[in-house]
Amino acid sequence: MHILLQIVTIIWLIDLKLVKTLDNGLVRTPPMGWMSWERFACNIDCDNYPNECISEQLYKDIADRLVADGYKEVGYNYVNIDDCWTEMTRDPVTKRLVANHKRFPNGIKALADYVHSKGLLLGIYGDVGTKTCGGYPGARGEDGTDYDTIDAQTYAEWGVDSLKLDGCYADTKNMTNMYPEMSRALNSSGRAIVYACSWPAYQIGQNPDYRRIAQYCNYWRNFDDIMDSWTSVTSIIDFYAKYQDVLVKYHGPGAWNDPDMLIIGNFGLSLEQSRAQMALWAIWSAPLLMSNDLRSIGGQYKEILQNRDIIAVNQDKLGILGTRVHSKSGIEVWVKPMTPIVKGVNTYAIVYLNRVVLGTPLIISFKLSSLIAGLPSEPLYNVYDLYDNSKLIGKLSNDQNLTLKVNTSGSVRMVKLTPVFKSDEIENDLN
Ligand SMILES: *[C@@H]1O[C@H](CO)[C@@H](O)[C@H](O)[C@H]1NC(C)=O
Ligand SMILES: *[C@@H]1O[C@H](CO)[C@@H](O)[C@H](O)[C@H]1NC(C)=O
Ligand SMILES: *[C@@H]1O[C@H](CO)[C@@H](O)[C@H](O)[C@H]1NC(C)=O
Ligand SMILES: *[C@@H]1O[C@H](CO)[C@@H](O)[C@H](O)[C@H]1NC(C)=O
Repeated sequence: MHILLQIVTIIWLIDLKLVKTLDNGLVRTPPMGWMSWERFACNIDCDNYPNECISEQLYKDIADRLVADGYKEVGYNYVNIDDCWTEMTRDPVTKRLVANHKRFPNGIKALADYVHSKGLLLGIYGDVGTKTCGGYPGARGEDGTDYDTIDAQTYAEWGVDSLKLDGCYADTKNMTNMYPEMSRALNSSGRAIVYACSWPAYQIGQNPDYRRIAQYCNYWRNFDDIMDSWTSVTSIIDFYAKYQDVLVKYHGPGAWNDPDMLIIGNFGLSLEQSRAQMALWAIWSAPLLMSNDLRSIGGQYKEILQNRDIIAVNQDKLGILGTRVHSKSGIEVWVKPMTPIVKGVNTYAIVYLNRVVLGTPLIISFKLSSLIAGLPSEPLYNVYDLYDNSKLIGKLSNDQNLTLKVNTSGSVRMVKLTPVFKSDEIENDLN
């Protein structure tokens, strides 16, 4: 049994190696940080919304909060600008993008310097087409001129560390050619810049070429924009479940599927649904990019976002996209193999998700071997409750049941299973 599991793991690792992923050495674990879009969208009205408009002040405030309130310490280190940061036209002479003069009076370079001085990294936003989704200049002129090289050099000179390239106002069939061009331009700029593509999100249901996408992008959005609602989160969960067999193949260090931002701390999710979003994004090894207002977020939401044990699941070095192993009548179980691997047996993270919207909390119970195929019988598995300070709540063999009571309406329980061998305990006793 052991050997079988080891072989499966090895085959999986070899298979990933055969998929040639973007070789820039960046984001070997899923990126973590903050991004303005879901919470602040394209608010450019700084007269009426001085604290909420897309401006250098917003990003500086967020950088300050990341550092002062402990987010940076647990791993959140990217501050990502999204749409609506530029003037409506390029510089007529240099053809460069220009930051909006009123809202970014000191320009992007100064903002990058500020963010770097805090030990953080700066991300920026562009579009592969003629315009961004908000109608600002894209990487292609109306006349077909290609500005990839100019933009990549500009970002590099400013000290930008990450680029999200959206896909509005572009021929979706031609993204296969256009997205790699920016990838090459970023590489030629000589600066290490993470490349986040929206490419497959514009090809939903059209069988995106994930092998090629992983060759050119560090991470990629593949489904609709997240909105501030549980309905939006469940649509993403359903998408990941439906396509998991395809998505899992091209997902790993430096090449991540991106289910979009964490909306924890906004208005749309209950506390328990917020725990559910964090749990699933961790199970998927997904980018953890918060979009919320860190200046006014509630303490219980902050606690979810800074849960170190769950972040450790997300940041596990194998970077496996966990998958749904059970779904019936509103009850789902998600499983992710992770490290440490003890004598060929993985550690696992497991999420029980209760989507039932009627009645009292449910007792959910599954035999471990029914959730994890080929789970060896020899070790016992310590069960730690990741939403209760990793408290040890059980010690199970593979033919025993993991039984947890789970609240309704989008609540989760999340545990970690670590294999414990009898012989190890004896060795430890002798030491
Ligand atoms: C497709 O993209 C390539 C690379 O940007 C470009 O040269 C070509 O003109 C585009 N073709 C169409 C039909 O848009
Ligand atoms: C450019 O690509 C090469 C390999 O294709 C890689 O070794 C190098 O680190 C990349 N450089 C940058 C700046 O991304
Ligand atoms: C144990 O889990 C199995 C499903 O794997 C279930 O059919 C069975 O009812 C559970 N046993 C108990 C005592 O809950
Ligand atoms: C379930 O709901 C109860 C009652 O609201 C709450 O006290 C408890 O913390 C919840 N349990 C979990 C695991 O979220």
